[in-house]
Amino acid sequence: MSHLIAPSVLACDFANIQSEIEMLNKSKADWIHIDVMDGAFVPNISFGMPVIQAMKKHAKKPLDVHLMIEKPENYISDFKKVGADIITIHYEACNHLHRVLQMIKAEGCQVGVALNPHTPVDLLVSIINEIDLVCLMSVNPGFGGQSFIESTYDKVKELKEIIKKNNATTKIEIDGGVKQSNAKKLLDAGADVLVAGSFVFSAENPIATIAQLKSI
Ligand code: DX5
Ligand code: ZN
Repeated sequence: MSHLIAPSVLACDFANIQSEIEMLNKSKADWIHIDVMDGAFVPNISFGMPVIQAMKKHAKKPLDVHLMIEKPENYISDFKKVGADIITIHYEACNHLHRVLQMIKAEGCQVGVALNPHTPVDLLVSIINEIDLVCLMSVNPGFGGQSFIESTYDKVKELKEIIKKNNATTKIEIDGGVKQSNAKKLLDAGADVLVAGSFVFSAENPIATIAQLKSI
């Protein structure tokens, strides 16, 4: 299967949410990546359920909701209600990761686990078959437009080995600082999904930029 592109709307024009989502509908984007930040797990606040609900009204593609929040277990059904198709929680935010994954599955969503740059991928070995998507953070979460952390390539390769060894179908998503210049190397290392925020939305032609990332 060819790789997937998930533009991050954190970098979109929030005064024109409808047209930004319609642009993504027309583009070759596969998913719409939605960054929820609570000002506690990460040092920034983005937006919550009402904004996601507004996006869902126009979206024709799955909503890939990345929760950078503490106590995600308290909000899983709320995010499902406003239209999340994939719910990704942070390993670092969960004392009972397995339980939260089951909660997400029970809502009928695909389940993702995100790892901060400092978190080793082998912590997921015993639980990899329960996870649809591992989101490897290639920047420290909290802000768009940061520089890509180079050690991510090795994490992708190591995680791919774990997935293969366990006959898992888990996809690897890369989030942060993705652009044309590092996308191919990430895909060669084993990435399946590329998130791109500022690279897409600050481009003169976001639709063409998405198509470029998709055609690598
Ligand atoms: C960072 C977010 C990312 C961010 C990516 O905390 O999780 O999804 O929007 O933005 P860029 O592509 O600009 O690094
Ligand atoms: Zn994200």
